Amino acid sequence: MRKRYLIANWKMNLPPEGVDNYLAAMARADARDVTIVVAPPFPFLRDVSPHRIAVGAQNCSDHQNGAFTGEVSPGMLRGCGVDYVILGHSERRQIFHEADPLIARKLALAIETGLTPVLCIGEDIRVRDTGQVARFLADQIRATAIPALEMAKDVVIAYEPVWAIGTGRNASGAMVAETVGEIRQSLERFWPARYAAGLPILYGGSVTPDNVDDLVVSGGIDGFLVGGASLDSSKFSAILAGLARAA
Ligand code: PGA
Repeated sequence: MRKRYLIANWKMNLPPEGVDNYLAAMARADARDVTIVVAPPFPFLRDVSPHRIAVGAQNCSDHQNGAFTGEVSPGMLRGCGVDYVILGHSERRQIFHEADPLIARKLALAIETGLTPVLCIGEDIRVRDTGQVARFLADQIRATAIPALEMAKDVVIAYEPVWAIGTGRNASGAMVAETVGEIRQSLERFWPARYAAGLPILYGGSVTPDNVDDLVVSGGIDGFLVGGASLDSSKFSAILAGLARAA
């Protein structure tokens, strides 16, 4: 059975209820077999692990040290107790112009450093509307088919259609299921064979307590990467309950 995850991507935000209140509430939630990961902004990374919640970073450098003002290396993240790192998020790709070769280098260094990468892939609305989704995602997967994948203990994929992120317009369970099938086919073609069936694929994009059931029941996914709704512990707990119920 594949591992299941619920990942909070706070982006450059903090929970209105306060970091410690939020983390204490999530530590009390009944997670069953679901691994909860909280990815706060960098200065708050060390606040997460005392609550026995897995720690995620939202980004890392493709270098371990040096003259790279404003960057944080995978080794430094490990030193702060970080286990997971989100890579290739569409906001990094679009706003900060991160392209596949840079993401592939970050992926390699994260794996070599012992972090579990959460690799985000997803199409924009033009690609979806012109029926190019399978080919587009195959290209993103092929671009990250690096030798370091052979030595990775775990890798997580987050399928996040760009048009669904922060828009209130989530993909339907049926649409996600079809796309997850296409992603597995591309993994089989381009990544080491062991990844095709065993790798957890999460969905992200406007996940809320209201749409979680459809995505869990019909989506064929192994969890969620949640932005906006992850900032409120009661909403995030409700999403967790929906996911945990479907064990
Ligand atoms: P959203 O963000 O849940 O606010 O759509 C998801 C993400 O960006 O990971």
